[in-house]
Amino acid sequence: MSSPLRIALIGAGNMGQQHYQHLKTLNEATLCAVADPGPQAAGIAAEWGVPYFTDHRALLEQLKPDAVIVANPNNLHVSTALDCLATGVPVLLEKPVGVHLDEVRELVAASTATGVPVLVGHHRRHNPLIARAHELVRSGALGQLTMVTALWQVRKPDSYFEIPWRREAGAGMLLTNLIHDLDLLRHLCGEVHQVQAITSNAVRRFANEDCAAVLLQFDNGALGSLTGSDAVAAPWSWELDSGENPVYPLQADQPCYLLAGTAGALSIPQLKRWHYAEADAGWHQPLQAVQECFNADEALRLQLQHFVKVARGEAKPLVSVADAARTLALIEAIREAAASGRACVPARIEE
Ligand SMILES: NC(=O)c1ccc[n+]([C@@H]2O[C@H](COP(=O)([O-])OP(=O)(O)OC[C@H]3O[C@@H](n4cnc5c(N)ncnc54)[C@H](O)[C@@H]3O)[C@@H](O)[C@H]2O)c1
Repeated sequence: MSSPLRIALIGAGNMGQQHYQHLKTLNEATLCAVADPGPQAAGIAAEWGVPYFTDHRALLEQLKPDAVIVANPNNLHVSTALDCLATGVPVLLEKPVGVHLDEVRELVAASTATGVPVLVGHHRRHNPLIARAHELVRSGALGQLTMVTALWQVRKPDSYFEIPWRREAGAGMLLTNLIHDLDLLRHLCGEVHQVQAITSNAVRRFANEDCAAVLLQFDNGALGSLTGSDAVAAPWSWELDSGENPVYPLQADQPCYLLAGTAGALSIPQLKRWHYAEADAGWHQPLQAVQECFNADEALRLQLQHFVKVARGEAKPLVSVADAARTLALIEAIREAAASGRACVPARIEE
């Protein structure tokens, strides 16, 4: 058996610590160092018993890790990942892949040119529940996918917004939260041809949006809507409905995504599939409901196990930089559509 992959962590905040909790359960990888200039980070590295650096470039140069996890602030993602690629080190890069498409295009080019793999942390795609939903849609169990409804409606406490950057333009729920839903919609339903959108800050009055209503037309012809708000006392969101993260009290009977096709429909995360017994039946006949099964497991841990394989060259990233860039392009198209009142087409991203 090969020796454990030596993984360094760049950014030991909330998400970096979650990655560490999973990393320490793996046999195939081990944490080798932490880089983070923040006031808590030296103590965290000491507690974990690994070398500490304030600057990730010194870590890369001195320790030569086999791979790194990058979980620092969004605006540092691209420059940090570029530093890792320049030293030939594979990266698990937290979402969003970057803040602007222009900088992300540079990362797509660097990843292609160096051949060093980058896995972007859209971890929900690793959830076995999503893998099963993906399989069902791709198998044709729903027939021709026709209507897609996605909900992300929650209430963040007012204290969440005491941190100033969370009230600033560009840092709203589109990039922070709806990016996960949009990434899953692309994964499950295919690429988006065009969008229309209205956003509003009518509740909190901050510089960024607290509500968004988005219309989506997919390349395959399906039509969809995504309605999101972080200012409503409602139970419809992946966080509350999926049980993926225990910090959110579970609302197990509420769906957040509803996919409907000519032969059937699927509610997610319940994985309840609806269909008629007879092919030519219609709304006067009873719809039958089937409970689809999957083996529940932790998406963040599965993502890490996949990353170990990616870093060893045994697997291709489930979410590449170019793939994640397409989700960011969709967000930019939604912003442009909301600002202009026009339908907008997401920018094309080549590998
Ligand atoms: N996948 C998910 O569901 C998910 C959830 C939450 C956050 N995230 C992402 O994880 C990233 C971190 O978010 P967070 O909630 O942990 O934020 P956080 O503020 O808790 O942690 C960020 C850490 O980065 C450190 N940092 C700042 N500058 C740095 C630098 N130059 N080099 C290294 N470290 C630096 C900070 O000191 C801090 O410890 C963000 O990109 C966020 O979008 C992903």
